[in-house]
Amino acid sequence: MKKIIITGGCGFIGSYLVHSALKRKFRVLNIDKISYASRNLNIKHKNYTLVKADLINTKKLEKIFNKFKPDFIINCAAESHVDRSIDNPDIFFQSNLLGTLNLLNETIKIKKKIRFLQVSTDEVFGSLKFNKMKFNENSNYKPNSPYSASKASADHLVRAYGETFGLNYVITNCSNNFGPFQYPEKLIPVVIKNLINKSKIPIYGNGKNIRDWIYVQDHVDAIFKCLLNGKKNNTYLIGSDNELSNIELVKIICKRYKKITNDNFNYLKLISYIKDRQGHDLRYAINAKKIKNQLGWKPKNKFQISLDKTIKFYIDNRNFIKKFYTRDTWLKKKYA
Ligand code: NAD
Ligand code: TYD
Repeated sequence: MKKIIITGGCGFIGSYLVHSALKRKFRVLNIDKISYASRNLNIKHKNYTLVKADLINTKKLEKIFNKFKPDFIINCAAESHVDRSIDNPDIFFQSNLLGTLNLLNETIKIKKKIRFLQVSTDEVFGSLKFNKMKFNENSNYKPNSPYSASKASADHLVRAYGETFGLNYVITNCSNNFGPFQYPEKLIPVVIKNLINKSKIPIYGNGKNIRDWIYVQDHVDAIFKCLLNGKKNNTYLIGSDNELSNIELVKIICKRYKKITNDNFNYLKLISYIKDRQGHDLRYAINAKKIKNQLGWKPKNKFQISLDKTIKFYIDNRNFIKKFYTRDTWLKKKYA
């Protein structure tokens, strides 16, 4: 049985990775520091272990690696929210850069062939203009936020460990994810939460910024394709060809929410334009030809069906949101 370490397995994407790895019959060790963004996975499975550890704790990492000796590592742990990185950049470099460095150092110490997959983001490439250009594997790194700069630094480090120490790695850069269990600080769950509460929907700037949305399970399937079949020391961009401006997306969510709840309320009147985010990237878009052509991956989930599933999840699990808003002072302050 192959052994895999998944870091950040209690976060949004990480939790889907853990479930997929167990389905694929891996022995899974989840390393997570259990932060504000983590949830209780409640998995009782003989092949699953959760270790509460911060990746900046080198002693603890060394112990874990010496005992578990993985065949695969998916580094998914990160501080992940751009707005928080603007308020407090330091922790982003500790977790996303130093954390990755420590993980790499332990990986190359183990005398065993290990494949290391770095879960990264399209935000490392900066911002596109409103034209037909999309990011691809040859795009230059040009991060604009502390979050994307910390992720870009980590990508460079992984690549450097490949060149210098012979690390067998793959880097994946994916577009914006959505789906059930996403932390209610990101756009889609924030909008759904505010529709449920009939409170104002905050849109930064003029709402024309574009994101390329992918359903989380499609991202996770792509990660496993790259982990198992990706070419050594290659990068793969992952996206669903689903560009929407923020205002278009919010209007779609309002429409779907109204349909699902069968309500007469005019949800569009909740839309409220607020001060723009500092350094707000205009547009992200992914050209996913490489992973499609080389690895035969393609997204399976249709946008509207996945969005409806996500909306229904938050309607049916109001406590999921409530719990985080009760304990997270940053959220309370931001959306007071
Ligand atoms: P998340 O914030 O929901 O979860 C991150 C998890 O990592 C949390 O459980 C947290 O406790 C853990 N973590 C953070 N720092 C840690 C540390 N120092 N030690 C141990 N655990 C730590 O994030 P997410 O949205 O699931 O994103 C996961 C990964 O995917 C990140 O690397 C992110 O950059 C990347 N990514 C996210 C998106 C997206 O749209 N969410 C898109 C592309 C790439
Ligand atoms: P977000 O979900 O934070 O992801 P990212 O910044 O990583 O793309 O934001 C998605 C887009 O939505 C981005 O252009 C910022 C915008 N946005 C709002 O307009 N209002 C909000 O309350 C949030 C959280 C985001």
